Amino acid sequence: MSSPDQDRSGILRVFTSRRETRAFYDKISDFYDLLSERSEGPVRRAGIEMLAPRNGERILEIGCGTGHSVVDLAAAVGPEGRVLAIDLSEGMLARSAARVVEANLSDRVRFACADAVQLPLAASTVDAVFMSFTLELFDTPEIPRVLEECKRVLTLAGRIGVVGMSKEGPGGVILEAYEWSHRHFPNFVDCRPIFVSRALETAGFRVVEKKIAEMWVPVEIVVGLPDEQRSLALAARLATDHPERGNSAPHLHFPLFPSSNTAFRKNCSVVHSGPAPPR
Ligand SMILES: C[S@@+](CC[C@H](N)C(=O)[O-])C[C@H]1O[C@@H](n2cnc3c(N)ncnc32)[C@H](O)[C@@H]1O
Repeated sequence: MSSPDQDRSGILRVFTSRRETRAFYDKISDFYDLLSERSEGPVRRAGIEMLAPRNGERILEIGCGTGHSVVDLAAAVGPEGRVLAIDLSEGMLARSAARVVEANLSDRVRFACADAVQLPLAASTVDAVFMSFTLELFDTPEIPRVLEECKRVLTLAGRIGVVGMSKEGPGGVILEAYEWSHRHFPNFVDCRPIFVSRALETAGFRVVEKKIAEMWVPVEIVVGLPDEQRSLALAARLATDHPERGNSAPHLHFPLFPSSNTAFRKNCSVVHSGPAPPR
């Protein structure tokens, strides 16, 4: 049975506003790694391994945080490839950009301060989308919107890799304690476990690889492909219903990257494009 703070499948709702989310991540950006890297790092790296980024690919990372995966993805795509990393928090983007500069990979990476529900990219422009510990931050009705956006920007031959806290697997007392914390302190424990592969399938991805890893809560590591038929139908519907969201939209055109409008650090920039993220 569902209660007002959970959906029908038992996933807790998220009532945090964008403003609160941004402020929270700006505030913790300096010590985010101290809090999370030890537990999340190995699982996130397993996600990148499963996504298997290749030389020359154009990859979008959503919710790049402090940039560990940006560096791994940028190294994997090589000088001919491109990585666009987006995040809602400029504090996180600053951390990420510094890490990329330090790794000497700025030539192939760009950043954008953007909201995942409205990606600043033209349709069919990326070979892969990656996100870790980010999809579970979105409220239940927003998850399909984010995944639909991922499908829009992916090429038909593209793929998506998602690492996220999961309600699948053994669960147990720690998971319950975590959900309790989310319920009672939603501004500090902003995410909550979801059904990751089920969300991808519902959004029209075919899950081709999936692993449940153990962190202190179960974590799903999933790779999905856009279902071709549905992608074609979506493309046709988008062209009819939202002609402004096709390739002529004022989005970033991957992999050219327009010149940035905010000087950031040497060779790295935060690109503000498209409409401002909703508050
Ligand atoms: C839990 S952190 C994970 C960071 C990184 N992916 C990792 O694995 O270390 C979630 C990140 O998603 C970002 N984020 C939250 N809401 C977002 C949104 N609507 N659009 C884009 N990024 C968002 C946060 O600012 C934060 O950097």
